[in-house]
Parts: sequence; structure tokens; C-alpha cells
Amino acid sequence: MDNEKLIKAAIDARENAYAPYSNFRVGAAVEAENGDIYIGCNVESASYGLTVCAERVAIWKGISVGEKRFKQIAVVVDTEELTPPCGVCRQIIWEFCGDVPVILANLHGKSETVMMSELLPRAFDSKFLK
Ligand code: THU
Repeated sequence: MDNEKLIKAAIDARENAYAPYSNFRVGAAVEAENGDIYIGCNVESASYGLTVCAERVAIWKGISVGEKRFKQIAVVVDTEELTPPCGVCRQIIWEFCGDVPVILANLHGKSETVMMSELLPRAFDSKFLK
């Protein structure tokens, strides 16, 4: 799938962001092995720590309907400097996607693709639990 389609899905997801506390609206879209796309937005809470990031919402949606792995993820924020996933999301992306391309984009046509192994070098994962 081309990057533009995944970015567009993340832009659309961002429209539904529930971010009244930070006003920092994030959209994410993950592509499953079969090409299906799952989207997510950040969902905040008056109890701030309960907030869930857009990336994890998108992944949970796919996992909850039976997807096992994802091939790539796009993250859209309206920032000039492209916003990368937070640390917690990096760990979760690694769990369900591994070393996939992460497409960072804003609303003005700027985008960049980075590999997960760049964002989370020497990751902790299930191989250490054997
Ligand atoms: N946020 C995301 O949705 N994804 C990230 O990777 C970074 C942070 C959200 C969480 C919170 O709703 C807002 O952005 C500010 O931290």
C-alpha cells in the first residue's frame, strides 16, 4: 500500500481525537498483513494518566478483531517538526509490528519514514522470556 493512503487514513482518524486537555490531536493508521487498515486517535481523560495514544488505539482495534501482525504504521500530528511515537507506543508497536516502517506526517504534506529499530534500538521483547 502506498504511504499516501495510510497517511490519509491517519489524517481522518485525527479528526476524532478526544484531546480537550492537551489540544494535541493525533491520528494513527496501521496496515494489517492482509492490507486492511485500522485507525486510531488519542483519547484523553480528566484523570490525565488514563489517556491512550492514537497508535495504541489503532493497534488495539486490529488486535481486537483478530489481526496478529501489522506491516506499517502512520502517525499524523499537526506539528512542523514531525512527531514520533512516545516511548510506551514504541514498545507496543514493536510487540505487534516488529521492525516496520513508521511514517511520520503532518497536515501540510511533510512526511518521513523511519524504521522501528531506529526508534527503539535493542528492544526488549518476547525473545528474552524464553
Ligand atoms: N499522544 C499520542 O496520541 N501519541 C504519541 O505518540 C504521543 C502523544 C497523545 C497523548 C495525549 O493525548 C497527547 O498526545 C499529548 O501528549
